[in-house]
Amino acid sequence: MDNVLLVDTAFFTGNFAPKYSIQGAVLNEQQEAQIPKRKSEMGSAAAASDLKQMNDLSRDWPEIVPRTPLRPGYEDTRMNYRNVTSGGPYTHIRVNIYPDGGIARLRVFGVAQPTPPAADTRLDLASLLTGTVCVDYSNAHYGHPRNMLSPGRGAGMADGWETARRPDRPEVLLAKSDGTIVVTGEEWAIFRLGFRGALEEIGVDTNHYKGNYPDSIKIEGLDALGDDTWMTILNPRKLSAHKEHWFPCSSGPVTHVRVTIAPDGGVSRLRLMGHAVAQ
Ligand SMILES: *[C@@H]1O[C@H](CO)[C@@H](O)[C@H](O)[C@H]1NC(C)=O
Repeated sequence: MDNVLLVDTAFFTGNFAPKYSIQGAVLNEQQEAQIPKRKSEMGSAAAASDLKQMNDLSRDWPEIVPRTPLRPGYEDTRMNYRNVTSGGPYTHIRVNIYPDGGIARLRVFGVAQPTPPAADTRLDLASLLTGTVCVDYSNAHYGHPRNMLSPGRGAGMADGWETARRPDRPEVLLAKSDGTIVVTGEEWAIFRLGFRGALEEIGVDTNHYKGNYPDSIKIEGLDALGDDTWMTILNPRKLSAHKEHWFPCSSGPVTHVRVTIAPDGGVSRLRLMGHAVAQ
């Protein structure tokens, strides 16, 4: 899988680590317990016994980044980005610096790949923690649709999916019999679920969107391992301002979900409660 790493040497201008390398590993709890416990001590080096223990444990770990030079922590050189083809998934990584020095932050970007839970476990299939990603969208003017996958409630309007207003919205708004307004266009986002699953309840949180929540939301699903066509899971439902909505539903197994809002606006969080379905 293609991923991106960031080694930020911020403020380490005279003492940044000149080179680094990164290894990946899959460790169980017993192996994790073999990692030497060290305390932070000024001027100390790893004891020979600690190094041996660590080297014995990680000798066969694949090298994700070979020995690579870093740049100093000045504003225009601190961000050391690197594209990697990492293999994986991994549970642990080992960062090596040569021969010593400072790194301010390490960022390892990727997609979570947890083990699917038992079929009777209820879980949120729209969480980035279960490996769900946004694969496409029609508009993300103020906020990316992937923000809806974050844990917890949104911090503000920037922490959600918010589109631009549609310029083709009618000059005079008319309501249909179900209360949703007549629109000439809509906006959508498509998600690939971390696990194939069946949905039982959908959460739509318009937290913080008071004058700019969408009028309605529609949810469809597709099973790429089944007949590969979009099925309606939730017919258009009217939304309210700054509120957590819960809609019961009952879907077959799906691998992808399309969220359509009409005509436009902001949604803070999406929750697709259900259970995993084996492939
Ligand atoms: C990583 O790959 C992207 C897309 O191919 C490219 O635009 C970018 O410059 C690459 N970054 C680095 C640090 O090599």
